[in-house]
Amino acid sequence: MARITAGIATSHIPAVGAALDNGRAGDSYWAPVFAGYDWAREFERAERPDVVILVYNDHASAFDMKFIPTFAIGCGEAFGIADEGWGPRPVPEVEGHPDLAWHIAQSLILDEFDMTIINEMEVDHALTVPLSLMFGQAERWPVKVIPLAVNVVTYPPPSGNRCWLLGEAIARAVASFDEDLNVQVWGTGGMSHQLQGPRAGLINKPWDTAFLDRLTADPGALRHMPHIDYLREAGSEGIELVMWLIMRGALGAQAQELHRFYHVPASNTAVGHIVLRPDAA
Ligand code: DHB
Ligand code: FE
Repeated sequence: MARITAGIATSHIPAVGAALDNGRAGDSYWAPVFAGYDWAREFERAERPDVVILVYNDHASAFDMKFIPTFAIGCGEAFGIADEGWGPRPVPEVEGHPDLAWHIAQSLILDEFDMTIINEMEVDHALTVPLSLMFGQAERWPVKVIPLAVNVVTYPPPSGNRCWLLGEAIARAVASFDEDLNVQVWGTGGMSHQLQGPRAGLINKPWDTAFLDRLTADPGALRHMPHIDYLREAGSEGIELVMWLIMRGALGAQAQELHRFYHVPASNTAVGHIVLRPDAA
């Protein structure tokens, strides 16, 4: 049987990928950011997951205003690296897991989550930067990845509670897959950040810290937090944090925190990262 063994969340700041790709990870500005992921890199070497269900949002790379899926699952064999304006990142192609992905798509849709199924697409910084943070400059990513894209770019994004319930449904889907696989669920995005307008550069450390605390201490309230609270407190792009609730919902009520990291600044953003163990593991 496939098992969810860990949940990992991290910001997906594009400048972090650029720092790594351009040999700047050791610079005094970037070194503390990468050091914050040493623990997780070691954890991943020990855990050796087979598959990551990687919850992220596309930033107008694969989708644009022509079509905006609320929840989409990548069922393809492989996903290319998107050109976000300065050429694709020099990182390996992302290998999918079509059998598990189709199983999850079927399970979710019959469980009344109307997923968009994607066989071909390119993935952007929101998916590749977390892979780089966990696995460094790999020749080949050591895991298969099922991209799970969430619309948090165009209003209205899904509610935190809907994201949580999707996470629970993902856990049911994984548990009903026959093959013995070590599966992790990752949530990306956040923490507080606003990239445009008069509040550009907004960072709210107390709110971010409370969000990290509440992921394990008070998830029941967190899942019902309205969008306007994210917008006011964490800035317009802080709404990416609803994606963490998909990861969190997949881990069960009593998930345990194993590790966290918080750092300001990286680009315009607060970096947040947390590693959780599901209650059943
Ligand atoms: C930036 C972009 C993102 O998508 C994000 O989540 C954080 C920061 C940026 O352009 O700095
Ligand atoms: Fe983003």
